[in-house]
Amino acid sequence: MDLRFSEEQEMMRVMVRDFAQKEIAPFVEQMESGFFPRDILNKMGELGLMGIPIPEEYGGSGMDFVSYITAIHEISKVSATVGVILSVHTSVGTNPILYFGTEEQKQKYVTKLASGQYLGAFCLTEPNAGSDAAALKSKAIRNGDHYIVNGSKVFITNGGEADVYIVFASTNPALGSKGISAFIVEKNTPGFVIGKDEKKMGLHGSRTVQISFEDMKVPVENLLGQEGEGFKIALANLDAGRIGIAAQSLGIAEAALEAAIAYAAERQQFGKTIAAQQGIGFKLADMSTSVEASKLLIYRAAQMRQHGERCGKEASMAKLFSSKTAMEVTTEAIQVFGGYGYTEDYPVERYFRDAKITEIYEGTSEIQRIVISKNL
Ligand code: CAA
Repeated sequence: MDLRFSEEQEMMRVMVRDFAQKEIAPFVEQMESGFFPRDILNKMGELGLMGIPIPEEYGGSGMDFVSYITAIHEISKVSATVGVILSVHTSVGTNPILYFGTEEQKQKYVTKLASGQYLGAFCLTEPNAGSDAAALKSKAIRNGDHYIVNGSKVFITNGGEADVYIVFASTNPALGSKGISAFIVEKNTPGFVIGKDEKKMGLHGSRTVQISFEDMKVPVENLLGQEGEGFKIALANLDAGRIGIAAQSLGIAEAALEAAIAYAAERQQFGKTIAAQQGIGFKLADMSTSVEASKLLIYRAAQMRQHGERCGKEASMAKLFSSKTAMEVTTEAIQVFGGYGYTEDYPVERYFRDAKITEIYEGTSEIQRIVISKNL
């Protein structure tokens, strides 16, 4: 079993690490005050980072899935905000069209999404349908060559900023989850209304909004897959999405660990560094072990995905474990910093705030346990 990265994957890691240090790090503070990193995304588009695993014929970089996960991991070490924007854009904003779209839909949308000309988003969650996604109430009624869509969505990452949205609505409520269909919706569609901008605990530079559909007219050619295939499209793409969020968690945890090690090696108490004292040394050992275990789960799931194997269970395990690790490691990193860790003078309080959502979005930890246990 070879656990080394290929030369191409290592090149991606080095390139993205360099980009994140030079082009993202200087804007982290601005993003903390709510600035959406449009210029950074444009630069990422120029470098091919907005379509890493998308085939070149559809405007992407044509690289493997592990390289894509490497990019989210490295970017999230510097900015979990940019990490989630990229993950949602690619995994659940672009891939559903690549895997389930017609050739026309791929030519029209994937090419622009993968090149970074368009930003993508995913509209599944509703006020009363979060973990129970199949209970969604948005409806799409066919009327000639259009569907008329009504309903509302919440917590839409990239909402308001994205150009293209994968929208889930029921075309046949009597069929439950088998009556849900997916649609490709452009931001400027009449009846597509951007609502409240959520004020969040973390990820301040990433936009999260409510969206409502008010007699929104979606052309029939924008139905994605077949009528009734929507729930399957959502879950199939969430598999890969969850590996992306796991990689974001890993980036946050690794950043917190590195900050804690550096601080512990400098900070002197009782006549020696705190790293040399077992209370802190053991803490760092546990943090580091959990980070390495997350890494193995994530890259194993990514490799399965790359080889076209079904990886729902492994993706859920990776997300469950690495989001828990991100919370534990960021909490302990603040403890290592003591009072300084609780101030905004050090980045560990941001890591802690950014980590919490990884246990919630793209399926809570409880949902990951449902997916895992059903697969056992
Ligand atoms: N790939 C393809 N098909 C799949 C699948 C997968 N990974 N998982 C399930 N399916 C299929 C099943 O085969 C089944 O079809 P059949 O009946 O034909 O066999 C169908 O989908 C329904 O599957 P289940 O019976 O397992 O569905 P369920 O209703 O019992 O449970 C759930 C589903 C796991 C609880 C699911 O509702 C779920 O994952 N909920 C969480 C929702 C979620 O993750 N939301 C995230 C929102 S997006 C987001 O957060 C993005 C962001 O902004 C960051």
